[in-house]
Amino acid sequence: MTDQPARRAAELLGQARRVVVFTGAGMSAESGVPTFRDALTGLWQRYDAQALATPEAFRADPALVWGWYEWRRHAVRLAHPNAGHRAVAAIQHRVPGTVLITQNVDDLHERAGSPAPVHLHGSLFAPRCSACARPAPVSDDAEGEPVDGRRVPPPRCAHCTAPVRPGVVWFGEALPGAALDAAVEAASSCDLLLTIGTSGLVYPAAEIPQVAARLGAAVVQVNPEETPLDGVAEVNLRGPAARVLPALVDAVWEGADG
Ligand code: APR
Repeated sequence: MTDQPARRAAELLGQARRVVVFTGAGMSAESGVPTFRDALTGLWQRYDAQALATPEAFRADPALVWGWYEWRRHAVRLAHPNAGHRAVAAIQHRVPGTVLITQNVDDLHERAGSPAPVHLHGSLFAPRCSACARPAPVSDDAEGEPVDGRRVPPPRCAHCTAPVRPGVVWFGEALPGAALDAAVEAASSCDLLLTIGTSGLVYPAAEIPQVAARLGAAVVQVNPEETPLDGVAEVNLRGPAARVLPALVDAVWEGADG
């Protein structure tokens, strides 16, 4: 990492004591998990993602919406964490107390070895009853799932027989209170926030890097594209997470044992 922004980012990470890592869909892009704003494919290409990801859509056509989330869950099952996910886990290992906050509903951070990410937008692996909210089992059977997806009637809750829904936050729904509180608290007391692979367009999640900056933390952004967070960040690293993050970790800790 020779360029000035990269050297400054390494300096900030090297001296940080309380780190927050904030990630979005771009973090998983190089694992083949499409970002939310990537065009939908297969059965879903005639739908707008935002239209599918609402309580209204689920009420109107539960099999369509459940099918879409099952298709996304199977895609994530077939994907693997990338070097960016592993670099985040390495930062958590090197800087004890680092808080990882993700907008992603996949489990690639966990599979890369990151302990207890805060899932602001829920998870594809935490379905629950749409009425009594009791957790529901996740079926692992991806056998014979058509690659283009299909409509799948949601299972019924074992307790109240209402339809089971995906454990994600839909548009128009509030974020899980405990997760949002933990994210705001971490952002309010950190000295460095790394924001990685997010467009910074969806609120209230997009507020998190701004809270950190307002309270004096340094913000470093990793994104190949410009985003509204450019002005919030002290350093903008333009590149893909799976290339930029391992280089950043190496620049700070290469040769450092333990
Ligand atoms: N490395 C880093 N960033 C990347 C990469 C990459 N390899 N590929 C794409 N990006 C960036 C894009 O430039 C874009 O800014 O990732 C961002 C992805 O933006 P979105 O698709 O808007 O995803 P995100 O910011 O996570 O969306 C927020 O909105 O759609 C809802 O619930 C969904 O959690 C999601 C939330």
